[in-house]
Amino acid sequence: MKIIHISAECYPVAKVGGLADVVGSLPKYQNKLGFETAVVMPYYENKFNQNNTYTIVHTTRIEMGDTQYEASVLALQSSKLGYPLYTVKIPGLLDREDVYSYPDDTERFLAFQKTTLDWFLHLETKPELVHCHDHHTGLIPFMMSKAHKYESLSDTPSVLTIHNAQYQGQFSFEKLHYFPEYDLSHSGLLEWAEQINPLAAAIKCAWKITTVSPSYLIELRAAANGLEWLLDNEKGKSSGILNGIDTEVWDPETDPMISKNFHSNTIDSGKRNNKLFLCDQFELDPKKPLFVFIGRLVGEKGAELLPEIFETLLKDSELDLNILILGSGDSEVEKQLDTLKARFKGNYNTYIGYDEKLSHLMYAGADFLLMPSRVEPCGLNQMYALRYGTLPIVRSIGGLKDTVIDIDSKGGFGICHEHTTVAEATHAVKRACGLYQDQTRFKKIRKQIMQIDHSWDSAATNYIELYQSLTHQN
Ligand code: ADP
Ligand code: GLC
Repeated sequence: MKIIHISAECYPVAKVGGLADVVGSLPKYQNKLGFETAVVMPYYENKFNQNNTYTIVHTTRIEMGDTQYEASVLALQSSKLGYPLYTVKIPGLLDREDVYSYPDDTERFLAFQKTTLDWFLHLETKPELVHCHDHHTGLIPFMMSKAHKYESLSDTPSVLTIHNAQYQGQFSFEKLHYFPEYDLSHSGLLEWAEQINPLAAAIKCAWKITTVSPSYLIELRAAANGLEWLLDNEKGKSSGILNGIDTEVWDPETDPMISKNFHSNTIDSGKRNNKLFLCDQFELDPKKPLFVFIGRLVGEKGAELLPEIFETLLKDSELDLNILILGSGDSEVEKQLDTLKARFKGNYNTYIGYDEKLSHLMYAGADFLLMPSRVEPCGLNQMYALRYGTLPIVRSIGGLKDTVIDIDSKGGFGICHEHTTVAEATHAVKRACGLYQDQTRFKKIRKQIMQIDHSWDSAATNYIELYQSLTHQN
């Protein structure tokens, strides 16, 4: 079966968050299971692309209203990713360093989707199924089924995976002239709240919808940034499939980004070595429990509460702990987090920015990982933390609810709280400090969590079964 994943991000080519990790690893595991899987994504002017060689496999011209763009599809020459990678190059639109946040993102991603479909039309063997990820690729199911130009693709099944329904990519109907010709009676499929809404269009037009955890699917029916009703309506074709992780990239035994490799039998010395390295770099005291936060500093992650949570904890004379933050996002939160550094020198530090290597080192060297998320469709951080023997402290929501059991429950190994509030998050950290004092229990739990299997080895099969239900019915 030829499956094509279409996405704006894919690790290690271009990463903003977990979407990249999923699209960069799931196809590798699907190929291992014997299914021919490839990825197509935009070609950004970034380090990965500058350091790698591509071959042109398709060239075309894409019309966006009155403007025409030269576009090409490139195939990565190396096979190092474990699946074929294709990138869509559109000078004038996609040839920028960053993935998102340009004023013409609508035009950029629409042109990307049109070029991808144009290429499919010219392929000798058409994809048997296309798998779209998030709103940046959400117009593909509509165009495949309704645009005259792509009529030959209308029988090809499409799957949409919702990684984050908060972002929907809405734009005005004034931009309708960017679309390939279709029967205007179908415009309702594009529309939500009087705008063209790519995520809503994909929910309506994709043959199947998945969310990245079972709990997130249920939660979306109650709160989906305006799409609740639509998601409830489409529940018949929806399912929640929990993400897996790439256990080859995220393996404490072989990870080249950490200071000392370890496995469950050498966990004590391994964690100690990584913690010492980290504490030395950030002027923290390795004798104290180390709590870390890694992530985008946005409202969904509860970021604006972090400064108050940390200040409350660091001021508490009964607690003796270290906190280290790695993240970027809201500039006000970044500033507030940095301001605390001078006040709590020796117990608190931050790295405001993005640093893949440091994130690995933090999963390896920390004792606890904080995730007080308001919304967490799946969350990969907690799964990486588990694999590196770091106990997760999470708000029970979405994928966090599906992957972390509280220490007070049977088989528990993490610390859970119900709401994203300063009071609940600080209380959770206090419980963690209590556990840390009982070193025998703490060490037993951290050894146990390294064995939890969140690999794609099992999760990838769930997608294959879903694909087969569509291709067999076809
Ligand atoms: P989301 O996709 O919502 O940001 P996930 O938990 O799914 O959340 O995935 C986040 C991914 O991005 C993880 O691989 C995490 O380690 C990484 N990450 C987030 N922020 C940073 C950062 N500032 N530096 C390095 N890695 C980061
Ligand atoms: C999104 C979600 C995150 C999820 C990731 C990968 O970015 O915010 O929770 O883990 O996608 O599916």
